[in-house]
Amino acid sequence: MTTIGIILGSTRPGRVGPQIGEWVEKAARERADVSVELVDIAEYALPLFDEPRSPRMGDYEHEHTRAWAARIDALDGFVFVTPEYNRSIPAALKNAIDFVYNEWNNKAAGFIGYGSNVGGARAVDHLRHIAGAVQLSAVHTQLHLSLQTDFERYTTFAPAERHEAALRQLLTEVITLTEALAPMRRG
Ligand SMILES: Cc1cc2nc3c(=O)[nH]c(=O)nc-3n(C[C@H](O)[C@H](O)[C@H](O)COP(=O)(O)O)c2cc1C
Repeated sequence: MTTIGIILGSTRPGRVGPQIGEWVEKAARERADVSVELVDIAEYALPLFDEPRSPRMGDYEHEHTRAWAARIDALDGFVFVTPEYNRSIPAALKNAIDFVYNEWNNKAAGFIGYGSNVGGARAVDHLRHIAGAVQLSAVHTQLHLSLQTDFERYTTFAPAERHEAALRQLLTEVITLTEALAPMRRG
């Protein structure tokens, strides 16, 4: 069965990101055609990129890289849940993407941004660009969640009703594209 990973882009103590990740996970679990996993970059304690060789070679020196690579390799498609930090994605997310290469290739990606100003729009724009570099295929639908209107007191996630349909559309696109790309992954 197709397995979708929900990548939490924030590693910050006290982060709000996991609440959004669990919301995505719950919606994905309503579907019988996929399995879903939450992927917390923080659990891998990745240092700043420290592999001596290009990730394209897949010849990883460090155990932390091998563990991260195995996790990404086992997933068929992704939903990235990223906050906006200084008009881009968190450095920890960029670092985790940089660490591996082939493990991302020919897989689908959907994007959910959040932030205090523009719903993480600039972070998602940057992430779309980065995803292309590691041969992730981006779907069209994306979500933008606001700390001001989709959270209570900037801390408790309470998404506006309109996001529910958009989330289901995003999941449909990610799952459909993931399955369409399966021959390329095998090849
Ligand atoms: C270092 C830093 C930079 C930030 N820069 C932006 C920004 O450029 N635009 C924005 O909308 N929100 C920005 N924020 C607000 C975050 O999007 C908000 O704090 C969000 O809760 C962070 O996600 P997290 O709690 O899951 O880490 C920034 C927050 C931090 C910590």
